[in-house]
Amino acid sequence: MFVAPSILSANFGKLDEEIKAICETGCDFVHIDVMDGHFVPNLTIGPVVVDAVNKIATKPLDIHLMVENNAFFVELFSHIKPRFLSFHIEEEKHPHRLIQKIKSYGIKAGIVLNPHTRVEEIEYLLEDLDLVLLMSVNPGFGGQSFIPSVLEKAERLKELVIKRNSKVLIEVDGGVSDKNINALKSAGVDIVVAGNYIFSSNSYKDAINSLRV
Ligand code: DX5
Ligand code: ZN
Repeated sequence: MFVAPSILSANFGKLDEEIKAICETGCDFVHIDVMDGHFVPNLTIGPVVVDAVNKIATKPLDIHLMVENNAFFVELFSHIKPRFLSFHIEEEKHPHRLIQKIKSYGIKAGIVLNPHTRVEEIEYLLEDLDLVLLMSVNPGFGGQSFIPSVLEKAERLKELVIKRNSKVLIEVDGGVSDKNINALKSAGVDIVVAGNYIFSSNSYKDAINSLRV
């Protein structure tokens, strides 16, 4: 299992130390939540801070857009060259076009599904996508409870991935901890995002290792 700590739960007063700490403990990606105050009722960070994080991080960035105008934000973050740039399917009329745009910058493209969104929505995009991120909370805030139906969704998505011979990675975001990590692994999940579980722990290293099942 790959582990991507979400810096939303980090101490922003010492963000540089926090980024260094999670990278040194051996996380795989640094997950960054970009919220615009419209698609979700919260506002986080933009390209200036993400650029600074990218300079400190020794692990690739995994950017999760929670915004209304996806194409605008894709442009805005394209120069940072994260490993993954993912947008919500619920907010995009032309997902296939936007995937191509992201890839044209040499960035791996991901689509995010809210808890209510069926995985069949993206079946015909699986050949083009690099990542599908399944939300296991309603997007907008860290520290929420895990919604268990994501396990069934991950299983269904895995079936579609195999059926279509896709190489897409399955990521889950929200309420992930040592309590649900084994079930996520069994459901076929490749990457987990964890914010509160890692950043509220006494040892980031132990917390990250406990997710590496
Ligand atoms: C929620 C974000 C998540 C969040 C996860 O909108 O997408 O990445 O930070 O935090 P936890 O692990 O605390 O649920
Ligand atoms: Zn996220």
